[in-house]
Amino acid sequence: MLIRTRRSWDTLQESEATPEAVFFNRRALLAGSIAMAAAPAVAQRLDDDPSMASYPFPKNARYTLDRSLTEEAAASSYNNFYEYGTSKSIARAAQALKTRPWTVVIDGLVEKPMEVGIDDLIKAMPKEERLYRFRCVETWAMAVPWSGFAFKALLDYAKPLSGAKFVRMETFLDPKMAPGQRNPGYPFPYVEGLTIEEAANDLAFLVTGVYGKPAQKQFGAPLRLAVPWKYGFKSVKSIRKFTFTDKQPVSLWEQLQPMEYGFWANVNPEVPHPRWSQATEELLGTGKRVPTQLYNGYAAEVAGLYTSLKGERLFT
Ligand code: MTE
Repeated sequence: MLIRTRRSWDTLQESEATPEAVFFNRRALLAGSIAMAAAPAVAQRLDDDPSMASYPFPKNARYTLDRSLTEEAAASSYNNFYEYGTSKSIARAAQALKTRPWTVVIDGLVEKPMEVGIDDLIKAMPKEERLYRFRCVETWAMAVPWSGFAFKALLDYAKPLSGAKFVRMETFLDPKMAPGQRNPGYPFPYVEGLTIEEAANDLAFLVTGVYGKPAQKQFGAPLRLAVPWKYGFKSVKSIRKFTFTDKQPVSLWEQLQPMEYGFWANVNPEVPHPRWSQATEELLGTGKRVPTQLYNGYAAEVAGLYTSLKGERLFT
């Protein structure tokens, strides 16, 4: 059994204290399938999105799936976006997210710090669509067509200096627009990080769209991360800032519960979360459970990133 020292957030409701929902597992999984727990889909008007005309992005045939795509209605109605509440049914609340105007700051150890409008950034990047698996640490999984661009392309654009070892990514901070950010139990803004080598890996992807169109707000519009070999909490939504640094970033979840949510967070069926097994996963919207795969099935692409890091907690 996990023994934790008592911190201020231990007074939170269990449902509030973790995305890695023991709460969810008890209330929803045991009650039936995740499909039953999902709220009705919230359709969003996307036709006034300035990037609409650039969709669909060309498909990159290199990225194939071993499973069916998750229904859009299931993926877009069962989300983690704590800025809009601690339940999975935040799609409606997330419509308050204002995605234009939206600028992205690139700063820290780069040749030239800058702030760029999201539509200018999208125009400048080589666009593609990739089919990726996605595995949440809570043991649900999905398979979705992400549209966006390789993180590597952003590295070329940002020109980090040789001293940059990590990239720290930060979500917007605006409690008026995102009432969940008023919850004192969470150290917003949401922060995540990667090493430069991870960001430069072919699989690391920055997402602007899903299902062939601009991302609905609940997916983390207008720009989010997709690192499919890592647990889903690494895939930070609605990114406002990329900071290149020589210091390992501390994520929101690592600040809250470092014994449960570390920096690396690579998927591994054999390393349980301190409070539950990671051996299987439930495919969102289907009620089916399947075995979890090492690095979520992407070992061939990413295992080499970690061979020299044997002493690290690579899988939590
Ligand atoms: N990014 C922000 N800004 N806020 C969040 O609460 N939740 C994370 C991640 N990115 C989160 C976030 C978690 S725990 C998961 S599992 C995924 O987003 C969920 O992505 P999805 O809702 O598109 O499935």
